[in-house]
Amino acid sequence: MPRAHVVGWGKYIPQKVLTNDDLSRMVETSDEWIVTRTGIRERRIAAENETTATMAVQAARQALEVARIGPEKVDLIVVATATPDYLFPSTACLVQDALGATRAAAFDLAAGCTGFVYALAVAAAMVESGAVQTALVVGSETLSRITDWTDRNTCVLFGDGAGAVVLRAGPDSGGVLASVLGADGSGSDLLMLPGGGSRHPASHQTVANRMHSIKMQGRDVFRFAVRVIPMVTRQALERAGLTLDDVALFIPHQANGRIIESALRDLKLPPEKVYGNLERYGNTSAASIPIALCEAVEEGRLRPGDVVVCVGFGAGLTWGATVLRWTHPQPAPVPAWRQFLRRLRYALAAIRSWLRHRWWRVFTGRR
Ligand code: UT7
Repeated sequence: MPRAHVVGWGKYIPQKVLTNDDLSRMVETSDEWIVTRTGIRERRIAAENETTATMAVQAARQALEVARIGPEKVDLIVVATATPDYLFPSTACLVQDALGATRAAAFDLAAGCTGFVYALAVAAAMVESGAVQTALVVGSETLSRITDWTDRNTCVLFGDGAGAVVLRAGPDSGGVLASVLGADGSGSDLLMLPGGGSRHPASHQTVANRMHSIKMQGRDVFRFAVRVIPMVTRQALERAGLTLDDVALFIPHQANGRIIESALRDLKLPPEKVYGNLERYGNTSAASIPIALCEAVEEGRLRPGDVVVCVGFGAGLTWGATVLRWTHPQPAPVPAWRQFLRRLRYALAAIRSWLRHRWWRVFTGRR
């Protein structure tokens, strides 16, 4: 049976930085409180013209470039997000069009901050079954658009960004070795966006009641997280036939430094085996694990043969862990001519997409 190997990785981090000091001028909080209670120092905020899809496209292009795979070779695109551009069409379809991934199937996956781990497990299973050869898995979030900037309980936590990996069928000696996913909908009210769906469609009232921004019972989510991370990590390792001693790198969802410390204590993992970037980006929900994975590779923290465990938890409630054996060496730099050709191809795809939309507007008489 083939396994799904990560052969490409990429990320997109918006330029605008929002520091704790900036936040202390917006709500009653302080750098000291945020750092000691969460470990976050700053986060990135998407520019006005950036969305979950545009950031996903940037991360995906980088991942395809590392993989040296053209967009026309991609069979499947899964975008994990809680902040899609639209309720429909899916963000994955927007990404598919922008990339020019003409033969790819595309869908979004909603599992809150666990979204990327869920998406990785689903895409890997499709690769293993032979249904697809090459899959693009993206986690992308524009949480700043659903943040209540007057609520100090939540607005200090979140940030924007995107991360992506390319999965490809390969030998069964490495790649995605095992995944465990879980859910408990009885905790659905602990972390939610109440407005804008079929239960509370957008109205003056939902806007007045601030129902279009994140609502979270922080303490309950905290308790849930410290319980499930060690549990699902052990379950996934057991399913892979490995132990905690085999783990070279542990990449937990970047939500709170105290949650991560608690999980490490429970699992007895030394801090040097953990990757974290929480202090720079805050909690980027489904994007946090792929961004961290991408940075870990770029910093040389993963070598062929290493076992890496990615663990997510979040709204739903959901949780999940994936165990991978890293097989890909650091790629050689892409020659300038190849970079030029790739950029040309993406520019052509963008022009083609723009012309299609323009033609449709002319055809329907809409401006
Ligand atoms: O992505 C997955 C989902 N999210 C999470 O994983 C988040 C999990 N939860 C957490 O990370 C933590 O619960 C928080 C960081 C959200 C909150 O930390 P906490 O230590 O659990 O604080 P708390 O909610 O128990 O609040 C303690 C105090 C409260 O004041 P009183 O009632 O004791 O007077 C809050 O009002 O801290 C206050 N507080 C703040 N003070 C200054 C809450 N937010 C702030 C703030 N600045 N930003």
